[in-house]
Amino acid sequence: MSTMENHVSDSKWFNVQSVPQSHAFSIEDRPGNDPIPACKTIPIIDLANLKTSERIDTLQQIIKAGEEFGFFQVINHGLPNDVMNGAMEVLKELFDMPAGEVCKEADTDGWVYMGSTSHDINGVHLWRDNIKHQCHPLELCMQFWPQKPSRYREVVASYIVEIRTLSSRILELICEGLGLEKGHLEAMSQVQFLTASNYPPCPNPGLTLGLLKHVDHSLITILFQGDTEGLQVLKDGHWIGVDLVPEAFVVNIGSQIEIISNGKLKSAEHRVVTNPNSARTTIATFINPLPHCIIEPAKCLVNESNPPLYNSMSFQEFVDASKAFGPHTDALQNGVFHFLKK
Ligand code: OGA
Ligand code: NI
Repeated sequence: MSTMENHVSDSKWFNVQSVPQSHAFSIEDRPGNDPIPACKTIPIIDLANLKTSERIDTLQQIIKAGEEFGFFQVINHGLPNDVMNGAMEVLKELFDMPAGEVCKEADTDGWVYMGSTSHDINGVHLWRDNIKHQCHPLELCMQFWPQKPSRYREVVASYIVEIRTLSSRILELICEGLGLEKGHLEAMSQVQFLTASNYPPCPNPGLTLGLLKHVDHSLITILFQGDTEGLQVLKDGHWIGVDLVPEAFVVNIGSQIEIISNGKLKSAEHRVVTNPNSARTTIATFINPLPHCIIEPAKCLVNESNPPLYNSMSFQEFVDASKAFGPHTDALQNGVFHFLKK
């Protein structure tokens, strides 16, 4: 490493020998040092051959995974390797740039680089840098995206176009698996929102978190977790690690599909832990409804013996309600869901 590069990384907030107080979570939130066993149980679903008789089998696997875990991984998903790896490389380059070069705030239509300043309601900082931006409509959003690295816009746009195709296929399978009218979910999946995260190596992972326990408010989220583990899912009160499956995408059911499916599919709580050895870069794409879209249990899934479990409200109302409770997940679970549930 050259002296110049050393100088750049030395100036980064995370280049420390021990975890600063500002980044150490309370005993109840911190992951601690007990090892979380590798989990071979989150289903890995093969999306090849969807036109054949295996289709029924595939959609049953997706529904079962959504019921049991709220999470699954997909392989043979059709996204070209060079598009996935190209997006990952350009994001790693972006996170390697000196903070001042990327650190720029924009309005909600634009993009925001939050650096290490993102924190939970108790003011403890997450062990991550991240960038968030809107991706819909692509042509209008791209002007707000980072200009450096110079190929960022082109490479990330190709990735988003492919993710859009993949998410439509997955939503169609969920739709069919739930017995909803064809296009029901696709029609409301208008918006894509990208959050890429960089979780630097951490001197004491037992004290820190890359992301606090939370649920995603999307319809579904499609995550490329790169080459390093760190994502954990809460299942029956225990944390389980999401295995690294090369070139796979991790898909999770967001709270909007939990509501639409009247609680059949679960939006599982998850968090990100850090590790002492290597930085982890991930790309999450949230597939969301438009703000005015009404979210409610699908009519065909409710009847007298199966009453709706959730109130109907627009996606915007949902988001506003969740903001009122703050970003802390316990508040989300106990607050917003309680508020939403009939
Ligand atoms: C998220 C998320 C997981 C990860 O951004 O909501 O859960 O591994 N990300 O980065
Ligand atoms: Ni998430």
